[in-house]
Amino acid sequence: MSPVLVRGRFNALAMPIDQGRMLWGKRILGDHKTWRGLFAGIVTGALVFELQKYAYEAEIARELALIDYSAHPLVPGLLMGAGSGVGDVVKSFFKRRVDIEPGASWPVFDQLDFFVGAYFFVSLVYAPPLLLTIASLPVILLGNVASNVIGYWLGFKETWI
Ligand code: CTP
Ligand code: MG
Repeated sequence: MSPVLVRGRFNALAMPIDQGRMLWGKRILGDHKTWRGLFAGIVTGALVFELQKYAYEAEIARELALIDYSAHPLVPGLLMGAGSGVGDVVKSFFKRRVDIEPGASWPVFDQLDFFVGAYFFVSLVYAPPLLLTIASLPVILLGNVASNVIGYWLGFKETWI
């Protein structure tokens, strides 16, 4: 959600990652994938990690933690944020190849791109249990649709899915 929330701010970073370049007559990524959105995801990943670490150290819902947060610096949060953003960008690359306009929906791929990217990136420092990862897929799918509906309703997003 973070790229949507920073729209209209930090305009110096609002340039498209592909700089308008084309591949086989089509944009590589399109105007909707900006450095601003990518950085927003990385910063948000780090902030959420710090929040979870704070909760862990304050013994709030510690039984839900998969890792010992005190033993980790920011790295897993940065990797989750960067992985989400890169997963989303890779998805847009394929979306342009199959001729879907920026902003139009591509069900399932749009819902899982960030999850797959975050999973691979964070695996560099911590491999989440496989069963838990598979079990979280429907939660991620439904959570993403729910956040899109709320974002659409609040006027942040163009499509509800
Ligand atoms: N966004 C951004 N930079 C990114 C990712 C997202 O600026 N790296 C912003 C764009 O304003 C984008 C919005 O967040 O329109 C919603 O992101 P997303 O749904 O991932 O992009 P789409 O608009 O659907 O574009 P695409 O078809 O390329 O996925
Ligand atoms: Mg979209």
